[in-house]
Amino acid sequence: MKAAVYTKYGSPEVIQIIDVEIPSPKPNEILVKIKASSVTRADTMMRQGIPKFGRLFLGLFKPKNTTLGTGFSGVVEAVGSQITKFKVGDEVFGEKLFCNGCNADYICIAENVVLDIKPNIISHEEAAPVCDGFLTSYNFLKDIADLKPGQHILINGASGSLGSAAVQLSKVIGAKVTAVCSTKNIDFVKSIGADKVIDYKKTPIAKINEKYNVIYDSVGTLSYKESKKLLSSNGVFMTPVLSGQILYQMLFNPKKVKFAATGIKKTEELKQLFLDLVGLYKQGKLQTHIDKKYSLPDIKHAHHYLETGRKVGNIVVVNP
Ligand SMILES: NC(=O)c1ccc[n+]([C@@H]2O[C@H](COP(=O)([O-])OP(=O)(O)OC[C@H]3O[C@@H](n4cnc5c(N)ncnc54)[C@H](OP(=O)(O)O)[C@@H]3O)[C@@H](O)[C@H]2O)c1
Repeated sequence: MKAAVYTKYGSPEVIQIIDVEIPSPKPNEILVKIKASSVTRADTMMRQGIPKFGRLFLGLFKPKNTTLGTGFSGVVEAVGSQITKFKVGDEVFGEKLFCNGCNADYICIAENVVLDIKPNIISHEEAAPVCDGFLTSYNFLKDIADLKPGQHILINGASGSLGSAAVQLSKVIGAKVTAVCSTKNIDFVKSIGADKVIDYKKTPIAKINEKYNVIYDSVGTLSYKESKKLLSSNGVFMTPVLSGQILYQMLFNPKKVKFAATGIKKTEELKQLFLDLVGLYKQGKLQTHIDKKYSLPDIKHAHHYLETGRKVGNIVVVNP
């Protein structure tokens, strides 16, 4: 089978497509033939080995894990002897955290992780990126902000994978959404449910004259210092993007400023959030927006495009 790998940190050009043996499932695993897999900002960071302190875990001089791809959707091809929940032919989706080889033709994955039957109203392409934007933003909205019906949330970067998921999830929760994006993405952001849209090219944050219960800076381009005047008295500023500025502000304002790495949450907690999302997809309440699709041999181009910072929603690798 084909698999995308990288044996040194660097630009998208370090990615190679190689031939490897199809893996055999252990007793507690299923073998999945991958139909679509996600390509995400987190994947590009693993490939580059950034932030550099992350190399303490990822490998000091070269990556310990050489495979790419975290989210997937596909069809069960074989099951281990202890598998009870899935059978050959089931359509399944989920994630193998930390780029554990989903940009490939096949993966083996344990039954009890972030994995479930794919709702039949969504395609493999729509299912593969769910664990990036939707799972991350759901963790922020539900477990970190505890967003409530009627509250007002400002979502910065509303056209990205995390931002477009946050707009939809906030509406499902019953919050009022003000979304921030650029001129070209206003129609898209309105189409997914934003109540109000602010064009960041025309209205800088300093000119906004409203109060929010939650500010979710999904792309990490706002500063807490500038944003805090927009927070209501118990308001929370949260971002999935780690920076020195955020760490500093968290130290002095731990109740107001929040960062979390969703991938290091306990598997059972992540799985519960994921199962909630599966339920919402089954009810037709969420939509994955796909910006571009690539074939596995073209995955370098997907990484180059990601690094422009301009993608709208998600990008996926689609296998024939
Ligand atoms: N902590 C975690 O657990 C976790 C998990 C997953 C991802 N992340 C991080 O989350 C971040 C967001 O990822 P993503 O995939 O959603 O999006 P992304 O690819 O980082 O951002 C793309 C979108 O951001 C918009 N954008 C760029 N600059 C902007 C600005 N100044 N103001 C408002 N919008 C702007 C772009 O629209 P325009 O072209 O219109 O500007 C584009 O649609 C990444 O840094 C990723 O590493 C963290």
